[in-house]
Amino acid sequence: MDARIRTLGIIGAGRLGTVIASLAVAAGHRVRVARSGAPEPIARAMAAIGASAGSVGSVIDGADAVLLALPLGRYRTLPAERLRGMLVIDAMNYWWGADGIRPDLTDPRTSTSELVQAFLAGARVVKALGHMGYQDLEDEARPSGAAERKAIAIAGDGDGDVALVARLVDDLGFDPVVAGDLASGIMLEPGAEAFGADVDSRELRAMLERFPTSQRGIVVARARSGSLGQG
Ligand SMILES: NC(=O)c1ccc[n+]([C@@H]2O[C@H](COP(=O)([O-])OP(=O)(O)OC[C@H]3O[C@@H](n4cnc5c(N)ncnc54)[C@H](OP(=O)(O)O)[C@@H]3O)[C@@H](O)[C@H]2O)c1
Repeated sequence: MDARIRTLGIIGAGRLGTVIASLAVAAGHRVRVARSGAPEPIARAMAAIGASAGSVGSVIDGADAVLLALPLGRYRTLPAERLRGMLVIDAMNYWWGADGIRPDLTDPRTSTSELVQAFLAGARVVKALGHMGYQDLEDEARPSGAAERKAIAIAGDGDGDVALVARLVDDLGFDPVVAGDLASGIMLEPGAEAFGADVDSRELRAMLERFPTSQRGIVVARARSGSLGQG
């Protein structure tokens, strides 16, 4: 069976959501995009790139996968019941400028995608497309096999879901690199070397391998083993 994502829903119509919508349309996918409010203000911009705008609910319905491109601090506004059973691609990162000071989103014991997964009980959350800046995503997309193609890391718990997201990443113009399970997504978050990485698959794998010996990696390992008190 040719398992792939054909209709992509995107929640968040800002810098990241718009670039990914554009790349997905170029790859032949059907793309529907939502913002927090009524879709009318983004309808023209989405039509211009070959996507369509809808409400959050309508974008979820009929999608093969839903990409989260809204501020992480707003994840609890997502309709968890409607997303039940769906493949959800979490591209969100904690950014204090947008999210405010949120110790819950920087706890080294838990990747932020695990928090999103806990809230979206019943959805299948995979972290991807969040470590590269939107301008690099726009500039660096290349066909499969092209010289100097850049890589995007993926972290998730279900092998089939990770494979589906890897196929999407490839379609969008990047070499997929599997980082590990959803907890490993912390290696792609702010504070880790791979965050912001605009590198090829060899270099990205090397960054992920270095994570355990990095300053952030040591903090994460200590916190997860219980040797660092959390207030
Ligand atoms: N910018 C990047 O280079 C980049 C790269 C990788 C990952 N990310 C991550 O991607 C996410 C979005 O970043 P961005 O730079 O694209 O932000 P942005 O330009 O500020 O866009 C945010 C979008 O999210 C929408 N939104 C806000 N609250 C929402 C809600 N409760 N429900 C649905 N939509 C909502 C906003 O729409 P309205 O406010 O109009 O409703 C807006 O369209 C962040 O988590 C960020 O960390 C960004």
